[in-house]
Amino acid sequence: MQDRCGSGAPAGSLARPLEDCAEGLSGRYDCRMELWEVADQELRAFEPTDDELVAAAPALAAAYGDPHNSRMMGQAPGAFAAGDAIEHFARLRAAGGRPFLLERQGKLAGDADFRNLAGEAAEFAILIADPAVQGQGLGSRFARMLHAFAFEVLRLQRLYVAIIPANHASRRLFEKLGYRPDDSPAARRHADEPTDLTLSVGRGEIPAGPAGQERAIRLRRRVAPG
Ligand SMILES: CC(C)(COP(=O)(O)OP(=O)(O)OC[C@H]1O[C@@H](n2cnc3c(N)ncnc32)[C@H](O)[C@@H]1OP(=O)(O)O)[C@@H](O)C(=O)NCCC(=O)NCCS
Repeated sequence: MQDRCGSGAPAGSLARPLEDCAEGLSGRYDCRMELWEVADQELRAFEPTDDELVAAAPALAAAYGDPHNSRMMGQAPGAFAAGDAIEHFARLRAAGGRPFLLERQGKLAGDADFRNLAGEAAEFAILIADPAVQGQGLGSRFARMLHAFAFEVLRLQRLYVAIIPANHASRRLFEKLGYRPDDSPAARRHADEPTDLTLSVGRGEIPAGPAGQERAIRLRRRVAPG
């Protein structure tokens, strides 16, 4: 099963403790010591603790298995269990990725991650969990916040996405964020299928948001629990 664009992973054991995470980005980041959150007035993206992930996992699994979401993420239809969502985060972290939970006014809104980190580049994936609230601007706002994390905290130089051609919401979202078609070998390695579209954006290439809708984005390291 593909795990493109924030989708789940095969069932397996529960997440490994954060202490066991592989270090990402050449050892500059330690998962246990540096959990981050990015927030504006009502939206919050954060790297969850084990307990937070366990609490969110049933809703995430339902979102991964939603037929529309599955189709847009290019994955085979099928149900997911909470353990699949937990395992998905664990696998991303073990490979040096940076998965986030997304919340709107304290309620789970989806997830997003930076994966396949290589040098100063990574692949980005995002999911707004409830199809009924997609298309209302949430994806654009969360993506903008998370790109601030990627470029200002991780200091990445380029981000890639791979999208199925029928995913018009994604195509528009990333176009607005400054992504452009990219068929270079570095971009194509993120494609799961030959028909996938690959796009990328470089540091400093993200245009300003819509006039009058600017929101202050706060980036901060989370205080380690306990
Ligand atoms: C892709 C996704 C994250 C976008 O988030 P969203 O909250 O739905 O997107 P937004 O509301 O911010 O919309 C972004 C742009 O796409 C447009 N858009 C949204 N749905 C659209 C659709 N079905 N067709 C065409 N354009 C669409 C919006 O109008 C907006 O453009 P505008 O500002 O010019 O009006 C979300 O739809 C989602 O989670 N989809 C399922 C999973 C998925 O596809 N993940 C991404 C895989 S890489």
